[in-house]
Amino acid sequence: MMRLQDKVAIITGAGSGIGRAIALLYLKEGANVVGADIDQARLDSLTQEAKADSRLITRTGNIADKAHAEELVSTAVQTFGHLDILVNNAGVVDGFEAVGEMSDAIWNRVMTINVNGPMYTSRSAVKAMGDAGGGVIINIASIGGLFGGRAGAAYTVSKHAVIGLTRSIAWHYAPQNIRCVAICPGGVETNIMTSMPEDTLGWQRAQPTFATNLRAAKPEELATVALFLASDEASFVNGAVLTADGGWTAG
Ligand SMILES: NC(=O)c1ccc[n+]([C@@H]2O[C@H](COP(=O)([O-])OP(=O)(O)OC[C@H]3O[C@@H](n4cnc5c(N)ncnc54)[C@H](O)[C@@H]3O)[C@@H](O)[C@H]2O)c1
Repeated sequence: MMRLQDKVAIITGAGSGIGRAIALLYLKEGANVVGADIDQARLDSLTQEAKADSRLITRTGNIADKAHAEELVSTAVQTFGHLDILVNNAGVVDGFEAVGEMSDAIWNRVMTINVNGPMYTSRSAVKAMGDAGGGVIINIASIGGLFGGRAGAAYTVSKHAVIGLTRSIAWHYAPQNIRCVAICPGGVETNIMTSMPEDTLGWQRAQPTFATNLRAAKPEELATVALFLASDEASFVNGAVLTADGGWTAG
């Protein structure tokens, strides 16, 4: 028995890392998937890996662009008939700048992609899900959304905001049978860290917190968490913020 048989899911940032692993696992478990990413080549490679599965369609765009974010929901409904699952996964890191080192450009980029994007998709999704009797929104936050020393100020604030969005949606939409949960990964082997900005205060102050991490996860170890939370097995899990960090922040 497949765990997401005939469900319809949107996954943002589906071209790489955690989002890609979630897209492939959801397809394997019977879901119809709208995979979105800003990088067309990554989406083409996902389509290839999914062996041109007709249950996968892709859309290229910037999730911080309201029109693109909203179009993902209408595309899911028009193509597959309804929407059951939204995974707000697309995200970017800052350069580990402490607040005193923060530029407007980095702040605005991180906040619009990591916070505005999930707000736009969620705003459209709760309408579609409410009309259809319910659904699940899974937000990929971070342990940077729980603590102050794992990233720069912009990323830390953005992921704290994602957790706030999660609890807000969970509370407001529980009567409409819409669940909303957040996953807080620790380190994961993906393409998110392109450079190490070793000269920032934020980076230097992150070092003692990084020293206690035993290992980074494979993206597939996060995808299985997202599978459970999307499935009916998690029917009573709403508003939860689930850390998946191998114990890094437990000590
Ligand atoms: N890798 C980690 O250690 C880690 C830890 C905690 C949380 N996370 C979170 O997991 C999520 C996924 O990150 P990942 O590590 O898989 O990174 P990744 O860079 O491998 O994948 C992210 C994908 O999102 C896409 N993307 C970036 N900006 C976009 C935009 N503006 N519009 C649409 N798509 C965009 C990228 O093209 C990429 O394909 C992010 O929200 C990230 O903050 C990652």
